[in-house]
Amino acid sequence: MREIRNIVILTGAGISAESGIDTFRSAGGLWEQHRVEDVATPEGFARDPDLVLRFYDMRRAAIQTKAPNAAHLALAELDANWPGELLIVTQNVDDLHERGGARRVLHMHGEHLNAWCTCCDARHRWTGPLIDRPPCPKCEARALRPDVVWFGEMPYHMDRIYRALRGADLFVSIGTSGAVYPAAGLVQNARELGAQTLELNLEPSQGSRLFHESRLGPASAVVPQWVAEVLAG
Ligand code: APR
Repeated sequence: MREIRNIVILTGAGISAESGIDTFRSAGGLWEQHRVEDVATPEGFARDPDLVLRFYDMRRAAIQTKAPNAAHLALAELDANWPGELLIVTQNVDDLHERGGARRVLHMHGEHLNAWCTCCDARHRWTGPLIDRPPCPKCEARALRPDVVWFGEMPYHMDRIYRALRGADLFVSIGTSGAVYPAAGLVQNARELGAQTLELNLEPSQGSRLFHESRLGPASAVVPQWVAEVLAG
């Protein structure tokens, strides 16, 4: 096995579950309570923008009441102390990695706390509601939408993610079901590029057999344990 210098970590909703943020596909998860086509597609937004804006306004307000858990804090500690390359690629649209202290984070599915102006393409930090169609602070068009990647849209930062994978010795997937591409395909890409692959999840994900190693358990337990091991060398 080659020495581990460069690490790419993919996180999903499971890492924020113990902070009280609903996952998508667990029993009682978001996609049981809402139709994906209604609230997470450009077509749904075109059909009923009020429904979609209200849904994201509620989620945006809710995440601001949540706090990072031990798993976010452990990854932040790894980020602060790891001497090699490290990239946390998150599918999560919450800001718990950043509030936990992590710095090397990319949001491939966008961010709840950003609004995107579909008129001038500007992005703005946004903590309040969008339902009343506030004007874009840059161009004043009333054309702001949540800066969240919907089904049928292109995830963000894919070039930087693939570049990091090319140099990765270890790929770690945390708290994701492996149901949504291209994130779900990153483990295969990492393997083909020669990285070791490790899954940390509550239960085996859909692509579990693609990992060299799987450790099952709640993120707040398995992530700090793994980080301690890695930092101890
Ligand atoms: N610790 C670790 N893993 C957990 C925990 C926990 N406490 N709780 C749940 N999990 C696991 C579940 O077992 C599941 O495998 O986290 C995973 C969550 O899966 P999903 O709900 O499908 O979330 P995610 O993989 O992030 O979804 C991917 O789908 O609709 C979208 O855009 C949305 O980014 C999201 C994407």
